[in-house]
Amino acid sequence: MAARGRDPLRRAEAGPSRAGRDAAPRGGDSLAEVPGGIRLQKVLAAAGIGSRRHCEELIAAGRVMVDGEVVRRFGARVDPGRQVIRVDGKRIPAREDLVYLALNKPPGVLSTMSDDRGRRTLADLLGDRAERLFHVGRLDYDTEGLILLTNDGELAHRLAHPRYGVRKTYLAEIPGPVPRDLGRRLTTGVELDDGAVIADRFRVVERAGSRALVEITVHEGRKHVVRRMLAAAGHPVGRLVRIQVGPVRLGSLRPAATRRLTAAEVGDLYAAVGM
Ligand code: URA
Repeated sequence: MAARGRDPLRRAEAGPSRAGRDAAPRGGDSLAEVPGGIRLQKVLAAAGIGSRRHCEELIAAGRVMVDGEVVRRFGARVDPGRQVIRVDGKRIPAREDLVYLALNKPPGVLSTMSDDRGRRTLADLLGDRAERLFHVGRLDYDTEGLILLTNDGELAHRLAHPRYGVRKTYLAEIPGPVPRDLGRRLTTGVELDDGAVIADRFRVVERAGSRALVEITVHEGRKHVVRRMLAAAGHPVGRLVRIQVGPVRLGSLRPAATRRLTAAEVGDLYAAVGM
């Protein structure tokens, strides 16, 4: 593994996270009050939206919705376990028991939580955690990069379900030179033994004589799909790194490290799967 910052596969990754699809507030004011509930500004602050003061300003500005209604009243008590809370239309991760993590899987790690043959698994990278986390999809043993983990079962299920077509972006090292028509071939479809696959996007990031670095986006979860489609197009992949899942980027996360997703990232993930 090349040193951080010098690694061409990681250096090639750039740009801000894709914004979520924000719905406009419906207007009106709510008298919603859940007996024994938690004050709305406290829930917002605990979810990482900002300081208590900032959250009060958001409420006053009519930017906060609870179960589809704008709530402007300070001190409204809500149930974050049951109610859907949105800021500027984007759902916030309000439940404190739910955890959302990004992990940079190194090569040589199984995308499972245990292995009866004693190989390294995701559980070895996560250490002791109280929550039972689900990994969203898998990466091959030798593939590196972003894996999302959460105990939010509905979100994990939707992110992995083909129906939602969540896009995943990879950087792949392939033998060069790259023919001019490779992008067109991949984005019009490549026939595999279990059916055709189409790349959503393709670009050449770097050409270095006999090797090239390409970025490819797919919305598929089939096994080895990126390696298989590039091999079928005549370019067997060496190193493969997943750099983005839906709106979440790997960024500068070190190999084997985890980080908590921000409230905005979780909101964008909800939006990506209609939650
Ligand atoms: N495609 C592959 O070929 N491998 C992965 O790990 C993920 C997508």
